[in-house]
Amino acid sequence: MTKKLYIKTYGCQMNVYDSDRMTDVLAPLGYSPIETPDGADMVILNTCHIREKASEKVFSELGRLRMMKEKARDQQGRAVTIAVAGCVAQAEGAEITRRAPWVDIVVGPQTYHRLPELIAEIDPSVRKRAIDTDFPQEVKFDLLPEEHAPRGPAAFLSVQEGCDKFCAFCVVPYTRGAEYSRPAANVLAEARRLVGSGTREITLLGQNVNAYHGDDGHGSVWSLGRLIHALAEIDGLERIRYTTSHPLDMDDELIAAHGNVPQLMPYLHLPIQSGSDRVLDAMNRRHSKDVYFDVIDKLRHVRPDIAMSGDFIVGFPGESDQDFADTLALIDKVGYASAYSFKYSPRPGTPASVSDLQVPEAVKADRLEALQQLLNAQQFAFNKKTEGMRLDILVERVGGRAGQMAGRSPFMQAVNFAGSEDQIGQIIACDIIEGRQNSVTAEITSMKGAA
Ligand code: 5AD
Ligand code: SF4
Repeated sequence: MTKKLYIKTYGCQMNVYDSDRMTDVLAPLGYSPIETPDGADMVILNTCHIREKASEKVFSELGRLRMMKEKARDQQGRAVTIAVAGCVAQAEGAEITRRAPWVDIVVGPQTYHRLPELIAEIDPSVRKRAIDTDFPQEVKFDLLPEEHAPRGPAAFLSVQEGCDKFCAFCVVPYTRGAEYSRPAANVLAEARRLVGSGTREITLLGQNVNAYHGDDGHGSVWSLGRLIHALAEIDGLERIRYTTSHPLDMDDELIAAHGNVPQLMPYLHLPIQSGSDRVLDAMNRRHSKDVYFDVIDKLRHVRPDIAMSGDFIVGFPGESDQDFADTLALIDKVGYASAYSFKYSPRPGTPASVSDLQVPEAVKADRLEALQQLLNAQQFAFNKKTEGMRLDILVERVGGRAGQMAGRSPFMQAVNFAGSEDQIGQIIACDIIEGRQNSVTAEITSMKGAA
């Protein structure tokens, strides 16, 4: 009998990947995924703990799920299993069971492969709950079953997890644990399977992906640059990306790969968080802004058209007006194609959360607005600059409007163009017609001039 599984994913791409992997784990138990929670036999919230807002969303969603669960029980005599997975589960497992006792399973990001056992453990007649937030030595990735369904033209592949950097604002080292790299052979095998099922683009994932140091099975360790070279040899893998990177781990081999691996796309998400050396130091980022500029210079030397992306935090404890001005100046100097920015959010257990130099909320809000204005203007300018360019677009899905298809340019721009569904999975040369704020429109090159 098939059971319906609904997974709601919050947060980063790592969680998107993990949600797919949970679907794989549960497929042999008869669960097949659905797109909405209605009628689900099991609901998993795959949660994010990076900022307070992200965690709070989980508790409001759990309130809605409680009503759904009670309704299914009272009106249909049907049991709905509710699971909380991901980083909120890891960090706040006890809080979840206290605030939301209707949750049946709490599972941290390291133990998804144990979901079948956890499901077997819950017994609705005694309302037993199953909790697993261990950091086991065993490695979840390689205990998970193979992919159950094709992942589509552009897929994620986790190669690294956890972080040893301990930036003063960040919960990742606590929720995802110490840095771990998957053995190179396992990554290559997964990549080959993905390509075999139609994937053309792979984004290598890790919280600190360029710290990758995977065992090559012959007593050596591969860097991310080396891994990318090996992946580039897989026939049919047309595009490679990786995210998220730390500036200090941009080694020469990886930088060189941007010049000599044609499949490595000219786009890099390389967060710096702040443009002030004083704040970088307080954040424990372990590098100055000059180190960052130096990495970007080297990247632009080997790949002049590389599009840069980043993350910024405003209102980190102690950030002065001058520090903030330094961040704006850094952004001006780099010129980003896209970037994410956030108000500093104190996270329990992190050093910065107990600083007495917290910045008032109103100041954070003003700074965020100014920063986003600048970043939006840069993104718009970047999209405008691509007008008239002929770019290869990987067609990923049908677009929002009738007859419209959607894909990505090499620079990660969202591209919309008139096309047909049979083009999904193809890489098609397009002429960029109009650069907009968050996307560009295009026309298929060969169709130009057609009646
Ligand atoms: N407050 C605000 N932003 C944060 N980030 C991580 N931790 C925090 C926090 N406590 C941001 C960083 C990181 C991105 C994933 O989230 O910019 O790069
Ligand atoms: Fe968090 Fe990234 Fe810093 Fe690691 S490098 S602690 S994941 S912000």
